[in-house]
Amino acid sequence: MYRIALSLCLVAGCGVAAWAQGPYSAIASSKQLMAGSLKPAMDGLATMLKAGGPKDEKEWAMAESQAAALAETAQLLLLANRPLDQDVWLTSSRKLQDAGVVSMKAAGSKDLAAWKTSLSSMGAACKSCHSVHKKNK
Ligand code: HEC
Repeated sequence: MYRIALSLCLVAGCGVAAWAQGPYSAIASSKQLMAGSLKPAMDGLATMLKAGGPKDEKEWAMAESQAAALAETAQLLLLANRPLDQDVWLTSSRKLQDAGVVSMKAAGSKDLAAWKTSLSSMGAACKSCHSVHKKNK
């Protein structure tokens, strides 16, 4: 059911046109979203994780922003002609979005345990798509 609704969304633009000045028009390729947005955000989060977690207000705020950007980018993976299938691509992107939202909220409330778990979920979402769609895994 969700899949049907999403397919309709992709065809009809899903109300994006109502928000912006014109219809949504993709600028970045999936590869550019990976290299320019997802990877830097994940790297930033991984660096904080290695150090045991965000250390102060500034780092928690950065963790919150990086998770938010990641979740937003996950939504972009679903738009235009980016999806390369109607199965793994959609579920992985949605998983990444959900984990990003959980991570954003965990960082917002400085919940270290929940934040760490959310990073694992995000990493799993990257992997689940890459295992099918990325050549050099
Ligand atoms: C829905 C599918 C999907 C998800 C989710 C996904 N990726 Fe990717 N990723 C791809 C595909 C497809 C490619 C190969 C792109 C190409 O070479 O055209 C790729 C390539 C990459 C690359 C290599 C980019 C380059 O310049 O060659 C990096 C880095 C990357 N992904 C990081 C991530 C990270 C980090 C996450 C999770 C936060 C993630 N990806 C989530 C599909 C996905």
